[in-house]
Amino acid sequence: METILEIRPARPSEWKTLKEIRLQALQDSPESFGERYQDVIQKDDDQWQQDFQKAVESEHQDILFATINSVVVGMLFVFVRDQRKKIGGIGGLWIAPNHRQKGSGRQIIETALAWLKSKGLQTVTFWSNTTNEASTKFYEKLGFSYTGIEKPLESAPNFIIGEMKKEL
Ligand SMILES: CC(C)(COP(=O)(O)OP(=O)(O)OC[C@H]1O[C@@H](n2cnc3c(N)ncnc32)[C@H](O)[C@@H]1OP(=O)(O)O)[C@@H](O)C(=O)NCCC(=O)NCCS
Repeated sequence: METILEIRPARPSEWKTLKEIRLQALQDSPESFGERYQDVIQKDDDQWQQDFQKAVESEHQDILFATINSVVVGMLFVFVRDQRKKIGGIGGLWIAPNHRQKGSGRQIIETALAWLKSKGLQTVTFWSNTTNEASTKFYEKLGFSYTGIEKPLESAPNFIIGEMKKEL
């Protein structure tokens, strides 16, 4: 069967899809994110809906989904970090394990970079786990590099995260 990869913004009705994919991401890759599964699982559905609505309605942020043959297999948050300094941000990148190494990660990041550029931003920054060789290699392939600024990961302070940056 032909594989069709698509990157698209989350639709206003898809809060449950975000909840499902975000919880899978937090369980699969706890070392990659600032939030912990055991905290996020406590959030009730009203809160999920409210947070989701806010994100998809805002001009300053969006949620991107990667789909394969219309099934959501990955996600990324993209947002304006500082309009005055023209800095954007990304976060929460996750591709389901059985769909990795097929270009979805690259394509969702490229879509996010185009979104940030369309907002007039010039730089994108985010935090990446410095001990995660796979994601570090992935981001370096896409032209990001560490700035040298580091701090402990809030949700698991034994991990060190480093700021990564790319000019748009
Ligand atoms: C990191 C992640 C998003 C990569 O997604 P992916 O869909 O597998 O990446 P792609 O297939 O688009 O790969 C893009 C490039 O990165 C490289 N790459 C991807 N995974 C890699 C790995 N594990 N080791 C080395 N290089 C890797 C690919 O070879 C490719 O390079 P190429 O285009 O020159 O061939 C995915 O592994 C993931 O979800 N990991 C768990 C969560 C995570 O770490 N998120 C990041 C939080 S900061």
